[in-house]
Amino acid sequence: MSEGPGLVCPAGYTAVHLDDVGSTNAEAFERARQGAASGLWVVARRQTAGRGRRGRVWTSEPGNLYSSLMLRDPMAEARLGELPLVVALAVHDAVAAALPPLARADLAIKWPNDILYAGAKLCGILIEAASTPEGRVVVIGIGLNCGHHPDVALYRATDLAEVGYPTEPAAMFALLAAAMARRLAEWQVGDFAPLREAWLSRAQGIGEAITVRLPTREVAGVFSGLDMEGRLLLRHDGELEAISAGDVFFGHS
Ligand code: BTN
Repeated sequence: MSEGPGLVCPAGYTAVHLDDVGSTNAEAFERARQGAASGLWVVARRQTAGRGRRGRVWTSEPGNLYSSLMLRDPMAEARLGELPLVVALAVHDAVAAALPPLARADLAIKWPNDILYAGAKLCGILIEAASTPEGRVVVIGIGLNCGHHPDVALYRATDLAEVGYPTEPAAMFALLAAAMARRLAEWQVGDFAPLREAWLSRAQGIGEAITVRLPTREVAGVFSGLDMEGRLLLRHDGELEAISAGDVFFGHS
């Protein structure tokens, strides 16, 4: 594993660029264990053991952005559930900045934090946390399809080059690091309400039929917005259920 050239990164943050790594999330946790300061970005050209949500593999050949931001105690535990939505907003901001204005209308967030372009997944986010003797360490992993995308059975995927806006991973990282610094600062100094509103205005499928796959069941209903903590509100069988984790599919099967 070699450490590559410097990356553009805002004040208060540092970044390390690696060639091949197992997972940038795992590497960020390892560096936290070794004492790295909060605000460390780990970026890799390629991952050999990229991790997706729910134990899935994240295919990680060169050409896309593989990045993880390590934060120490970013927020009181009671508000940590807001973080996936704040991160989704930051990634949406960053991708929007890489697109011409007319194309931005095709960009949307799928609850809680996938980024879609014309309904196909452009970016995946995996947030992991660990308690350490020095406090809680949170790692925000972001995989953004710049040059290619895998064929995934579960959902449609795409990449920036395929939709006509080829972007180098390093250029995308500069936009992402800046957007993340802005949204995290907004979150840490204020309350969640304006961020929640901003998330809702970019969300895909509000008021529409969706199916949510939970660990032990699948439930169909109408996507009725978010509660004040960022949980998905699903209207079904005459009730409004707040869901904190699950895979969303648009439509009813
Ligand atoms: C998902 O399943 O949608 C989440 C995918 C997250 C992938 C990124 S790539 C950078 C970081 N390192 C990993 O091992 N996973 C995340």
